[in-house]
Amino acid sequence: MKWWQKATVYQIYPRSFQDSNGDGIGDINGIIQRLDYLQDLGIELIWLTPMYVSPGRDNGYDIADYYQIDPIFGDLADFERLLKEAHQRGIKIMMDMVVNHTSDQHRWFQESLKGKDNPYHDYYLWRDPVDGHEPNNWLSKFSGSAWEYVPALNQYYLHLYEKRMPDLNWRNPQLREEIYQMMQFWADLGIDGLRLDVINNISKDKDFPNDTFETPSDDGRNFYTNGPHVHEYIHEMYERVFGPNNFVTVGELSSTPVSEAIRYTNPEREELSMAFTFHHVKVDYTGGKKWTLGQYRLSDLKRILSQWQTEMAAGGGWNALFWSNHDQPRAISRFLDDGQYRDQSAKLLALVEFGLQGTPYIYQGEEIAMKNANFTSIDQYQDAESINAYHQMLADGISEDLAIKILQQKSRENCRIPMQWDMTTNHGFTTGTPWLQPVVADDYSVATKAQAPDSVFAFYQHLVALRKTEPVLIEGQYQLLAPEDEAVYTYQRQLGDKKVRVIANFTDQTQQRANAAVKAVMMSNYPDQQLTTDQITLRPYEAVMLEIE
Ligand code: GLC
Ligand code: CA
Repeated sequence: MKWWQKATVYQIYPRSFQDSNGDGIGDINGIIQRLDYLQDLGIELIWLTPMYVSPGRDNGYDIADYYQIDPIFGDLADFERLLKEAHQRGIKIMMDMVVNHTSDQHRWFQESLKGKDNPYHDYYLWRDPVDGHEPNNWLSKFSGSAWEYVPALNQYYLHLYEKRMPDLNWRNPQLREEIYQMMQFWADLGIDGLRLDVINNISKDKDFPNDTFETPSDDGRNFYTNGPHVHEYIHEMYERVFGPNNFVTVGELSSTPVSEAIRYTNPEREELSMAFTFHHVKVDYTGGKKWTLGQYRLSDLKRILSQWQTEMAAGGGWNALFWSNHDQPRAISRFLDDGQYRDQSAKLLALVEFGLQGTPYIYQGEEIAMKNANFTSIDQYQDAESINAYHQMLADGISEDLAIKILQQKSRENCRIPMQWDMTTNHGFTTGTPWLQPVVADDYSVATKAQAPDSVFAFYQHLVALRKTEPVLIEGQYQLLAPEDEAVYTYQRQLGDKKVRVIANFTDQTQQRANAAVKAVMMSNYPDQQLTTDQITLRPYEAVMLEIE
């Protein structure tokens, strides 16, 4: 077993974590100040979203210089100090690496604009117009065409994301070489691994065919998701960087079937350690569309999670488990109750996640039950994806009111608001003006909520510790019970004779279910779970982890 299979990862969105100098933006020194807090939580690995030099069109996912820390976060010396301080506390660091695209401000792209003969021209995906139009009908994931026209060259460049984020041409061996050297630079500084941004999109079909638009996802992605050479490239990365440096890696793999995720993460193939996949957080996409007011059925959520549990295990792959990250609204607001049953809901989500097979991730603030921002005006948003989507919705005839409601439910900006440390101004995040408005009227903070023995924080702490001592949670075989039950999610893990059952009531109604004979209550999100031998009564959002006969 690998160390990272038992470990818990904590995701930091540096911009919103802790500001140390009053400029309203979180920074490296701020992270260092909070390492003791993370050590106390028990996590062993931190994933830091990008802090490289960037014009910030996509909050750092648009990199202009891979070799430097953006001055808003600090500098390389600060970063090295962070590594040292983290390592001293037994915490490893995984950096975010964005190599599907760069910023248009990156030197390579600026060179590539100079002419078709420039050696960097081929670092990007330039195409001539077809009949005076875009080379094909692919859509950007940030709305509109995926192609941007540059009159001086009479060519289009591909951008699967924001238009100032041109896609790199991975067919070019020199480009690949530069990327591996750059990754090695960070390895030499002492990082322990990488989270690889949209890594399954790096290999495009060389013919760039039109897509069919039969469903919302036939928008081009059939020709670049898990594309022709992607496994070759990732294996090459492994040979050049991940293997020799003993890296832990997690790939962000959107729109990926299990069969492919197995190929990426089965250790024999020497590609990635584990996979982020997103089917479970698309469970409330109405008709496959994100920008809708969605509802979900528990049976769908269970079916998706269970398929990934069973099939990844059978194929020797490894899941990264999560409910929330910087691209998702808060799961507690989206799937459960962030009002009356806020603590129970947060604990239920934690229990269901940590009971599954894979490596669990906590997104900053999840451990204190932070909830959605629920902005009421488009002016409060800064995120390009959300703002573009808003204008697209209005153009499609959706009312302003509804568009705002949809953003309140689906926008990733909801989870990017500053971390709530205490009840002083701006929740102790900054003494200045925060870059993104916090929710003011919320009494949930580390200072007010993380100390109590029955807090959400303590619950996470307990789960993090439990995974280190209970092999059944790491290796145990997964089985879904009562798949059609729309109120209660019950699953079991088994290793040898040891059987652990997780039972979670996803509703605000009391539910009664049959149960197996109980040996012990391992975890419970109500203080006083009384169990009889063959029946269980679950109060609203009640969740338990039981050892059974
Ligand atoms: C990933 C990141 C997201 C970013 C996108 C483009 O999905 O997680 O935040 O916008 O890639 O880099
Ligand atoms: Ca700062």
